[in-house]
Amino acid sequence: MTGVQELAYVVYQVGDLADWEHFGVTLLGMQLGERTADGFTLRTDEKAHRWIVTEGPADDLVVSGYQVASGEALDALAGRLTAAGVPVTEGGAELAAARRVERLVQVTDPMGNPIELVTGLADAATPFRSDALLGSFVTGTGGAGHQVLLSKGVERAEYLAFYEGLLGFRISDLIVEELAPGVHADLIFLHCNPRHHSVAFGDMPHPKRTHHFMVEVTDIRDVGRAHDRCMDAGQPFEMTLGMHPNDHMFSFYVRTPSGFSVEYGWGGLLIDDATWQVTTLDRLHSWGHRPPELVHELLGRAPRTNHLPGSEH
Ligand SMILES: [Fe+2]
Repeated sequence: MTGVQELAYVVYQVGDLADWEHFGVTLLGMQLGERTADGFTLRTDEKAHRWIVTEGPADDLVVSGYQVASGEALDALAGRLTAAGVPVTEGGAELAAARRVERLVQVTDPMGNPIELVTGLADAATPFRSDALLGSFVTGTGGAGHQVLLSKGVERAEYLAFYEGLLGFRISDLIVEELAPGVHADLIFLHCNPRHHSVAFGDMPHPKRTHHFMVEVTDIRDVGRAHDRCMDAGQPFEMTLGMHPNDHMFSFYVRTPSGFSVEYGWGGLLIDDATWQVTTLDRLHSWGHRPPELVHELLGRAPRTNHLPGSEH
């Protein structure tokens, strides 16, 4: 089944553009793409943009852009959605130009998340350049990264019918972890290219539509350097450094100025559909990814002295 090929871009509507520019460019190491009438764009590779940041009250994800291979593939996908009763709207030339794509159609997922299905996301006029990174961001056939969305009480069968049955995602794996007696985190991870997942869904309570967006870097030192930049800037952390057991991502989680998070990672697993087996894992983290409050408490307890016991004289 021809479906989407990659998560091409996201649109965030944010309350404070200056904070977001500082967060994206200075802390994460992205490149400012261009200033628009209501915000700016951010680049992580040769493409014109990967994040489109606009000013507004949502402080949340407002559009996810998924690329398909061709106009014919987009026609087939739109036809499949229409036949299933999903309203499909042609985006028009003005919106396509703003998104820097050849063509665009709009649909909405069962949680109410607006989606743009696109062809031909354009390259920028200049090569990608980051003043902060030693290496580069991992994109290419794996797309811009991955995002975790909240299922907002929608049944898994209903959103899988849309994402798996219509958009063509494949299930990577599931994680069900008992966080406390009778309290479970339950996530499902979906891929549409070799990246372990481009989108995942969880039913945890969360005020936003998105829990986090993951950007991956080629050089493990860039995870540490981004960690330092965020810490030095006092940007609130969501989780400490750690690793996931399913996609093997070595990462930390830092909060965006809008309250949801960015996962900054290295070393993500790639999937070969010919041999991949879907499994259910019982833990979200192989190690680390602890709440920052825990570290704060532990460090706060450590003795602040240059003297070892018994070395006073
Ligand atoms: Fe993630």
